Amino acid sequence: GKRVTVRDIALAKERGERWPMVTAYDAMTARLFDEAGIPVLLVGDSAAMVVYGYDSTLPVPIDDLISLTAAVVRGSKRALVVADLPFGSYQESPEQALRSAARFMKEAGAHAVKLEGGRRVLPQVEALVSAGIPVMAHLGLTPQSVNVFGGYRVQGRGQSGEELMADAKALEHAGAFSVVLECVPAELAQRVTSALSIPTIGIGAGPDCDAQVLVWQDLMGLTPHPPKFVKKYADLAGEMSRAVRAFADDVVSGAFPTAEHSYR
Ligand code: KIV
Ligand code: NA
Repeated sequence: GKRVTVRDIALAKERGERWPMVTAYDAMTARLFDEAGIPVLLVGDSAAMVVYGYDSTLPVPIDDLISLTAAVVRGSKRALVVADLPFGSYQESPEQALRSAARFMKEAGAHAVKLEGGRRVLPQVEALVSAGIPVMAHLGLTPQSVNVFGGYRVQGRGQSGEELMADAKALEHAGAFSVVLECVPAELAQRVTSALSIPTIGIGAGPDCDAQVLVWQDLMGLTPHPPKFVKKYADLAGEMSRAVRAFADDVVSGAFPTAEHSYR
């Protein structure tokens, strides 16, 4: 096949090659990032916030994420497309997780799914892997648990770091092909990365992870107050507001359209 596979991801770690992941929620950005050579695209449930305008990831309906995932698969040719299982679509039982994951695979064409949690979701991870569905895990600041954490704050400091390490090892043993580490101390992420044979994908987890992920609107400078771990690679907010204001001004003044934009 011409797509990146989970085998390629495993080989990258063996070779010590780092790789980038970005989110995508539509066909146009999927094509752009795919053509730029991004090997893995994540249809994150962050769509709840950056696409749908909710104030957490919890409310987004599974059908809405399935539609976005289908668009990302249609827009890309080479990337492995990973879909987030949303809050409430897998916690109940391995059977529920399998039903939800199968929808992403069958209805949207996703190549893998991601879910949040460690030892508490091992039965789900095992059921999905047994069914032939590659699973990306997610530890540390897992936003679907924001109400337990009492806000978006660093996780895994002190003794809870050893809990996170145990979760990571259990997830690898259960068959997860990779694990996202979000907002954890760099030193902990480094230790987890060397302890595991599957790749770690960091976001606010320091420089030693095998891969790095960012929400694309964050790295492009579209989000008003990005977290400390974000590096801004562009100022699309500035560029887009300049452009739409220029269009508005031209319409009001009559400077657009001219003959060159008109049919005769
Ligand atoms: O939903 C998301 O975008 C994510 C990444 C930030 C890892 O889970
Ligand atoms: Na997510």
